[in-house]
Amino acid sequence: MKILVTGGAGYIGSHTCIALLNAGFTPIVFDNLSNSSTIALDRVTEITGKKITFIKGDVRDAEALDKVFNQHDIYAVIHFAGLKAVGESVEKPILYYDNNVSGSINLFSAMERNKITRVIFSSSATVYGDPATVPITEDFPTSTTNPYGGSKLIIEEVLRNIYTAHPEWNIALLRYFNPVGAHESGLIGEDPSDIPNNLMPYIAGVAVGKLKQLSVFGGDYDTIDGTGVRDYIHVVDLAKGHVKALQAFENKSVDNLYTVNLGTGKGYSVLEMVEAFKKASGKDIAYTITARRAGDIACCYADPSYAKHLIGWEANKGLQAMCDDTWKWQSNNPNGYKEVSNN
Ligand code: NAD
Ligand code: WQD
Repeated sequence: MKILVTGGAGYIGSHTCIALLNAGFTPIVFDNLSNSSTIALDRVTEITGKKITFIKGDVRDAEALDKVFNQHDIYAVIHFAGLKAVGESVEKPILYYDNNVSGSINLFSAMERNKITRVIFSSSATVYGDPATVPITEDFPTSTTNPYGGSKLIIEEVLRNIYTAHPEWNIALLRYFNPVGAHESGLIGEDPSDIPNNLMPYIAGVAVGKLKQLSVFGGDYDTIDGTGVRDYIHVVDLAKGHVKALQAFENKSVDNLYTVNLGTGKGYSVLEMVEAFKKASGKDIAYTITARRAGDIACCYADPSYAKHLIGWEANKGLQAMCDDTWKWQSNNPNGYKEVSNN
């Protein structure tokens, strides 16, 4: 069964291609390479022994999408393509709404034209804003403080509206918590194009000697040690969640529209992450506690029980594996895909 994977050359997309291949699906990757490299897909082939069909294209390009749907008998779409830097979205809201929202609408209309009615969408825990309590269940109120989060909320709403009009569509809204880690081979992982915004790649950059020291954003939150607490989830576990979501469509074991959290249910503070990474890498991680980052919240972690109940998915990998695998990727590829890339 062919699955169109938009954004499939990216961090979560490339790991999901492996999970799809392992489960017997055939990923067709459609990506404009704005934040990725085809080397990731070559590495997926190295890991799985299977070649991947790659189409360079932009989800805002209707003709390109029609061509893909004409050439391939697509069972479902997994829609990862999007820009994801919260800070950049504040600077460039039009770019974010155009790329993420217009791109998604363009994709959904191409699906409608071509009678493709199954879609899995990469949403985010960011849609919960600053939750009143933790753990977070799917029925918590949603809100946002930045255009990136706004784009995710709008796309979710567009999909809910599509379902109202076309209840025969199968739509999964997957809300990821904080994806980290890498494939255990160390061949693929997260490759930020610039100085990382997110904690884990920043810590890994310090450990490998590329970055001088970590700024810990705030030491006065009401948490275990004053630093922010998040639900870090291994990207390989996350990738498997997409296969479970697809299988739930196949088995008709879910409502035609559903929303699930993909998290572990466990929160770790920034300093706990630093300690765990030190242990995994054997390197010292220099850090200094600085002011809070605008828009950050104290604590965010999932109640993941609905995903287990509904699609039979739960995270299996713990913090040690998240750090070990990130370190393997980072130390084997200190410059990410860049050394060998000509993209
Ligand atoms: P990523 O940047 O590694 O992957 C996104 C991919 O989409 C990239 O390969 C990029 O080149 C491609 N892309 C971007 N705009 C495109 C366009 N207009 N047309 C075609 N391709 C396009 O990011 P990721 O971490 O793998 O995230 C994947 C998805 O998951 C995104 O939608 C992101 O918002 C969402 N998400 C990510 C996180 C996270 O922390 N990584 C958390 C929650 C949700
Ligand atoms: C984690 C913790 C920071 C960097 C973001 C998006 C969210 C989702 C995942 C896409 C926080 C602290 C970080 C650093 C630090 N992405 N930190 N120093 O902010 O939870 O979530 O990525 O959907 O939408 O908002 O993740 O990794 O940036 O931060 O102290 O250099 O690490 O303050 O407590 P965040 P993060």
